Amino acid sequence: MITKTAKPFVKWVGGKTQLLPHLTKIVDTIYLNNQIDSYVEPFIGGGALFFWLCSNKQVKSAIISDVNEDLILTYRVVQQFTKKLINQLALLEQQYVAANDEHREIMYYEIRKQYNLEKTQINYEKLVTNWSVNRASKFIFLNKTCFNGLYRQNSKGQFNVPFGRYKTPKICDADNLINCAATLKNVNILCGDFKSTEKYVVKNSLVYLDPPYKPITKTASFTKYHKDDFGDDDQIRLADYYKRIDELGAKIILSNSDPMSVNSNNSFFDDLYSNFDISRVDVLRAVSAAAASRKVVKELIIKNFELGLI
Ligand SMILES: C[S@@+](CC[C@H](N)C(=O)[O-])C[C@H]1O[C@@H](n2cnc3c(N)ncnc32)[C@H](O)[C@@H]1O
Repeated sequence: MITKTAKPFVKWVGGKTQLLPHLTKIVDTIYLNNQIDSYVEPFIGGGALFFWLCSNKQVKSAIISDVNEDLILTYRVVQQFTKKLINQLALLEQQYVAANDEHREIMYYEIRKQYNLEKTQINYEKLVTNWSVNRASKFIFLNKTCFNGLYRQNSKGQFNVPFGRYKTPKICDADNLINCAATLKNVNILCGDFKSTEKYVVKNSLVYLDPPYKPITKTASFTKYHKDDFGDDDQIRLADYYKRIDELGAKIILSNSDPMSVNSNNSFFDDLYSNFDISRVDVLRAVSAAAASRKVVKELIIKNFELGLI
């Protein structure tokens, strides 16, 4: 399938705007020289590379997955109940745009409160139209109006990002949602730990792994997407997964932060992936909680092949 140009329908921390040109160049070369039968992305987040791929290449089959239940519920609603979702988002946008700053803030915190209250009653296995569309519309509304499009939960799993003060947030991007739905039409959307995608990987799969980044300073924590953190033990589990699917013959690309950017002795990833091709690219990142401290750091792209040799 090559679908119309679709782009991520949520803003996601760790979204790949800066890495995307590097990643797409690699994918172009893979597609030129190899037969790719399936695409597997176990940490889908906003899906920047996935949406680019489906808009630019023939993707015969795709499996996307994430541990965040509400994100995955929203992908499924975009896939199956597009029109109903667009209608609800259009209503929310109308209400939000008509309100003054004070009422916008009240509306945001009211929806956040309802979103957190109903969380305990949800059966994520069931996709019953009304409640699932309602929940997905709250998810997108909060994403578009919260501070920086963050998704952060407290230890009880409650979404706790403050109000964002955007002048004209596009809460209902109907055209893009329709294009996303077309892209997702035959895609297998799973929810769970990355390990559960292993059984879908075969010789001719392209696998993109974009896990929560390892924090490179004590104050920078890019890992709190979900109440369960992604720690060093998970990075090690992921390296084992990488080695197993490498043996199957799949083409694998992984991105992560580079701890060497701040400590030249920290060879955590160089050691874990010593048998693979590691390259470093420059990106501009906030390396501490203060936005003013954005600076150029390196990020890692780890492949199980060399571009000149495939
Ligand atoms: C760096 S983000 C992915 C960003 C994505 N590439 C994009 O373009 O927006 C990492 C994602 O991993 C998910 N995640 C965290 N722990 C996970 C786990 N154990 N298994 C699968 N997904 C996980 C988070 O919910 C988050 O969406």
